Amino acid sequence: AVMVGRRVRRRRGWRRVVRVLEEVEDGCATTVGRLRQVVDAMAVEMHAGLASEGGSKLKMLLTYVHNLPTGNERGTYYALDLGGTNFRVLRIHLEGQRSAVIQHDLDRQPIPQNLMTSTSEELFDFIATSLKEFVEKEESLSETSQVKRRELGFTFSFPVKQTSSSSGNLIKWTKGFYVEDMVGRDVSECLQQAISRKGLDMRVAVLINDTVGTLALGHYHDEDTVAAVVFGTGTNACYLERTDAIIKCQGLLTTSGSTVVNMEWGNFWSSHLPRTSYDIDLDSDSPNPNDQGFEKMISGMYLGDIVRRVILQMSQESDVFGPVSSKLHVPFILRTPLMAAMHEDDSPNLKEVARILEDTLEISNVPRHIRKLVVKICDVVTHRAARLAAAGIVGILKKIGRDGSSGIRSMKTKSVSQNKMRRTVVAVEGSLYTNYTMFREYMNEAIGEILGDEIAPYVIIKVTEDGSGIGAAILAASHSSSSSVDGG
Ligand code: GLC
Repeated sequence: AVMVGRRVRRRRGWRRVVRVLEEVEDGCATTVGRLRQVVDAMAVEMHAGLASEGGSKLKMLLTYVHNLPTGNERGTYYALDLGGTNFRVLRIHLEGQRSAVIQHDLDRQPIPQNLMTSTSEELFDFIATSLKEFVEKEESLSETSQVKRRELGFTFSFPVKQTSSSSGNLIKWTKGFYVEDMVGRDVSECLQQAISRKGLDMRVAVLINDTVGTLALGHYHDEDTVAAVVFGTGTNACYLERTDAIIKCQGLLTTSGSTVVNMEWGNFWSSHLPRTSYDIDLDSDSPNPNDQGFEKMISGMYLGDIVRRVILQMSQESDVFGPVSSKLHVPFILRTPLMAAMHEDDSPNLKEVARILEDTLEISNVPRHIRKLVVKICDVVTHRAARLAAAGIVGILKKIGRDGSSGIRSMKTKSVSQNKMRRTVVAVEGSLYTNYTMFREYMNEAIGEILGDEIAPYVIIKVTEDGSGIGAAILAASHSSSSSVDGG
């Protein structure tokens, strides 16, 4: 009788978890029809955000970067990249002809957790100290002495209201950073002051978002690059917009007739987004509820935590994971790289899944069919994320008339190539895209699905490497006070 009872309970447990899984699958469904609605909503919100200040949850921030690098920039420049899990410093030498050469590179350093929520002075003193140590080491190694004042491209990957290409005020923090006294303050000035306090002679030549660095590097190598997207701890996009389309800033004149807009698409929201109770709970438990809704469904900081929440629910509703592990209650304990490792475990017995469940979540002796269930949860969550990301990208293409919808379908012309469509490159970077194969594949597949066979070949997703750092140094060169750029 005991045996039978246990077996029945197990079976009931199994039925329950299958129901939970089905609910999650339904809640995360992204049919092409749904994705097209997201595409349209993205384009509409972009218009609204450009029309007036506060006109949309998309901030559509001006960057004051009106000219993208040409490849002819010359000189030696520094870059400092702050905004994800790590920060880093680089020194780059440019000799024209698209020759960006990184001379040296400070290893990626994790930002000490306590500094992420400390005071601006402590945070910037820490950064300036690392910068100074790096500069001193570099210059003692280098044969050529520093001839002019050092110039720095500062990548600060948070929403900033720029006041010029080299200054701007922090609007709010995202991605778990909370240095309260920084909000509203000029980010460059904070860094510049810390640099002075350390007695370093260096000028912040440009202040940029990481997406802008990615776009700059993309364009440096390929002039058809019109947009850039980052999939890392957070997610965001920027693109080249015609100045006359920026209604909220009438009279903005640039020689190029265009300018780079930082969308801050992490904050995009639409009722068409497929949302589950897990997303709602993740949002309300976060330090920034009702903020960064798109980011919370897509980026590396959050995907693992959605999976944790689903496993917790299953564990509470059944005994398939044994007694509920206390680790399952710990926010962000299941980091996205671990999720990716489980998802991509191709060993016959799903050894990696078992190991991560055991080591990270303290759930042991999980039978194979339950391990498979865990893989399936990862799949559902990443599939949705990647497809929403794809819809976001196509939304940008639609806004700038590169999705094929304005040309061929309405006009009875013979072929696309003779008419509207031009080669369109979108630069992409971030560890979620580069290190998580399934995310990358699902995203590229969905872009093809949404655009269709005729248009998709014109759209090229190109990975740039370290654009957030290298791009900043290149932009520092093209915005340098002692600019030695030919052309530009
Ligand atoms: C967050 C930031 C944004 C950044 C993105 C990727 O969304 O708000 O500025 O570009 O993360 O790092």
